[in-house]
Amino acid sequence: MTGASPQAVAEAADVLRRGGLVMMPTETVYGLAADASNPAAVAAVFEAKGRPMFNPLIAHVADLTAAHKLVAMDAWAMVLAKAFWPGPLTIVAPAERECPVCDLARAGLDSVAVRAPAHPVALALLKAFGGPICAPSANRSGRPSPTSLAAAMEETGLAVQAALDGGPCAVGVESTVVSVLDGPLRLLRPGGVSRERIEALVGRLTEADDDAKRSPGRLTRHYAPQAPLRLNAEAPLPGEAYLAFGPWPNLPGVINLSPTADLSEAAQRLFAALRQADSANPRGIAVAPIPHRGLGEAINDRLKRAAGFIG
Ligand code: TXA
Ligand code: MG
Repeated sequence: MTGASPQAVAEAADVLRRGGLVMMPTETVYGLAADASNPAAVAAVFEAKGRPMFNPLIAHVADLTAAHKLVAMDAWAMVLAKAFWPGPLTIVAPAERECPVCDLARAGLDSVAVRAPAHPVALALLKAFGGPICAPSANRSGRPSPTSLAAAMEETGLAVQAALDGGPCAVGVESTVVSVLDGPLRLLRPGGVSRERIEALVGRLTEADDDAKRSPGRLTRHYAPQAPLRLNAEAPLPGEAYLAFGPWPNLPGVINLSPTADLSEAAQRLFAALRQADSANPRGIAVAPIPHRGLGEAINDRLKRAAGFIG
């Protein structure tokens, strides 16, 4: 079943209730969705992705009221949620005692990462289902995240009993993950809401370098295509595909992330461009320098990890 009609959404909610998996669009990337309270369903997510079990999943909620049932939202968490939800911001906060998100989804941690996605189909599914939905990006572990239903189905489609088509993802990189656990707010993963926008509200965010244990997913090579990546390349070498940024001749093998050097557009196109470049089996993929401001921080983070340079 593919589509996003009210009937398709209702059927997908039933699949979740029965412990099945659903391909769910969000504004960032497609997610592989399961009932967050069902350990067997969550185990199937880890298995389909080949994801290490120590890497916890994000619990998606419809709104702030639903978030309160999962985590203790302190004043900072409330400021962030009110400013950026629904939207590409994930908040890591202490789990409530009655939190329904199962241990496996939390990887045994006493915190939960929560986010309300800004996608009408995801919100409709959350409302129809009525509980938290955990959904990691639908790629197999280590691969680029899918930003279209077709790409998502290529990655982990065999594991789902329903797929909802939400069109191409508007943001294109995953949510920003901020921890409000003990002390200063920490940026665990740059993403769809820029650091500048968050810092304008809450002041300086601490770096996450000392926090690898708390966000275990940040440790491994990630987002990687088959071909080796060469970053900060002013031009391609013979045999290389090239991801350009800004004005560039439209030659074969060149994919332009944004001819007008718009970082939002580049973020939106990033993962699809990596997939497209890879599909021609190039010697390598060279990527133009991307400015490190706004969404550029998230883009450079993904590129560095895709190239195998951690941290
Ligand atoms: O945009 C997104 O966030 C997408 C869409 C589908 O919502 N989801 C996504 O999920 O990117 P995933 O599983 O690929 O990434 C979740 C990140 C991982 O880096 C994980 O380690 C971190 O969130 N995380 C989850 N729970 C955490 C927790 N309790 N403490 C710290 N980090 C956590
Ligand atoms: Mg992921």
